[in-house]
Amino acid sequence: MPALACLNGVFSSPEDARVPIWDRGFLFGDSVYEVCRLYQGRAWLEAEHWARLDRSLSAVRIRGVDLDALALRMRQTVLKSQIKEGIVYIQFTRGVAPRAHAFPQPPVPPTELIVVMPYDDGPTARRRIEGAAVISRPDLRWGRCDIKSTNLLPNVLACQEATEAGAIEAVLVDRDGYVTEATHSSLLWVRQGVVEASPEGTEILPGTTRQLLLRLIREEGLSFRETRIARSELAACEEVLLSGTTLELMPVVRVDGDPVGSGMPGPIARRLQTAFRRSVQRWLETGA
Ligand SMILES: Cc1ncc(COP(=O)(O)O)c(C=O)c1O
Repeated sequence: MPALACLNGVFSSPEDARVPIWDRGFLFGDSVYEVCRLYQGRAWLEAEHWARLDRSLSAVRIRGVDLDALALRMRQTVLKSQIKEGIVYIQFTRGVAPRAHAFPQPPVPPTELIVVMPYDDGPTARRRIEGAAVISRPDLRWGRCDIKSTNLLPNVLACQEATEAGAIEAVLVDRDGYVTEATHSSLLWVRQGVVEASPEGTEILPGTTRQLLLRLIREEGLSFRETRIARSELAACEEVLLSGTTLELMPVVRVDGDPVGSGMPGPIARRLQTAFRRSVQRWLETGA
């Protein structure tokens, strides 16, 4: 099934969807976005994605978005695309107005983009079994990484370096030497049997998958703690994990070439991967 776009309520192929050059998303990156995973044609963790989108829109003061209408249009786009295993990309920009830094006055309607595209999980599924390599890079992002904005240049550049190094992600290291998260996924690690991750705040994106994992960790009877970790301590952890909408839960087996733990995916990663699959399956069968 080919990808399908819905731009300001108009369906077309993504290639035919056009925004004017005065769109503030194009000019300033003045926009926020969300990415959801479709399993069997249904949007996983939909409520969590809407909640985060709502927070991002409020934080950057993009007004006039009706999230109920958006949810309806997303479902229409998914149905029309007939895509079952896929990704939904949603973006709102502050709208179209001649270039000036301050907000358009009077305000203009936001630009709304929904794209539904097929997603082949095969290569990532294989990586989830073997584990993946990451590199580390300085975190050059801004002071509001909790907002899911499309200003992603530092993420793009660090991820490209990871790709060139044969790694799947770059973990980002702040000025004090502490790891924050990765370019498009959350980072968790295990020390003395306790799963740990950076504290929620302005330095990281509140990941919807991380949020789910915290629930699964509790249900599995495991312990979780928010704390910080220096880059230099990462390879000495028992396990390191990435989480994200398409990665789901990815064991990390190498950091900058050094093996993590035994150099193989660890037992906690395996338990949480199983719990994740069970959770998706239960939701598909019962909606809960
Ligand atoms: C910087 C960053 N951190 C974490 C995540 C993981 O978030 P989620 O689990 O909601 O996909 C993403 C996802 O794109 C991201 O871009």
